[in-house]
Amino acid sequence: MLESEKYKRMQNMKCYAYIIAGVVFQTIIILVFALTVMRIKTPSARLRSVTVQSLNYNASGVPHFNMRLIMEIAVKNKNFGHFRFDNTTANVTFGSVMVGDGEIVKSRARARKTKRMNVTVDVSSSAVSDEDGLRTQLSSGTLTLTGVARLRGKVTLMKLMKKRKTAEMNCTMTVNLNSHAVQDLDCE
Ligand SMILES: *[C@@H]1O[C@H](CO)[C@@H](O)[C@H](O)[C@H]1NC(C)=O
Ligand SMILES: *[C@@H]1O[C@H](CO)[C@@H](O)[C@H](O)[C@H]1NC(C)=O
Ligand SMILES: *[C@@H]1O[C@H](CO)[C@@H](O)[C@H](O)[C@H]1NC(C)=O
Ligand SMILES: *[C@@H]1O[C@H](CO)[C@@H](O)[C@H](O)[C@H]1NC(C)=O
Ligand SMILES: *[C@@H]1O[C@H](CO)[C@@H](O)[C@H](O)[C@H]1NC(C)=O
Repeated sequence: MLESEKYKRMQNMKCYAYIIAGVVFQTIIILVFALTVMRIKTPSARLRSVTVQSLNYNASGVPHFNMRLIMEIAVKNKNFGHFRFDNTTANVTFGSVMVGDGEIVKSRARARKTKRMNVTVDVSSSAVSDEDGLRTQLSSGTLTLTGVARLRGKVTLMKLMKKRKTAEMNCTMTVNLNSHAVQDLDCE
């Protein structure tokens, strides 16, 4: 075989190697893109802060409490597209009894942003039937309440890909009855 022919063949092989490397590289880029940017994650929702207003309660006689809570809800959207959610309610429970609810007006969390909003909930123990349990909690000086909400909506990527997602909020708060401060706020 002639030297020049050998050389030509080697050049060709080099060329194929470049093409294959290029295809592999592109495939990796597309895969990374598909697994990060295009993957739709479920947005999360939690209570960022809670302010207690006009609290009154009595642990003796017929135990009862009522107050107004200003709950700041944060909806975190990690997607590269916005999350638009519908009207819903934020419920506040004491044990398993619902003691108040507030309206969450439909809105949206922009791409890779956290949407914050305030929801006002008037809370009252009128539906609580476990008087002993209520008296025990109120006498202890703190009251444990739970705030839950289910924000149903859609994540839209690049105006064309849409997927239904629901952000769930489930937070436990401890209200200090003397200072009127919320001292513990834990979200699932
Ligand atoms: C709490 O209830 C007791 C017994 O019913 C009553 O004597 C007391 O005045 C009440 N306290 C307040 C602050 O309302
Ligand atoms: C959502 O709530 C707003 C404010 O209360 C109301 O005006 C609107 O009609 C509601 N939208 C739907 C779809 O229920
Ligand atoms: C919610 O209310 C709190 C307390 O009043 C305030 O500091 C906060 O800026 C409000 N957040 C929004 C998003 O309006
Ligand atoms: C809040 O309460 C309403 C009315 O009872 C109920 O339909 C809704 O499912 C509750 N939301 C959550 C998240 O539990
Ligand atoms: C909230 O979290 C608690 C603790 O994990 C769980 O027992 C409860 O069922 C949850 N509530 C909702 C409405 O998801």
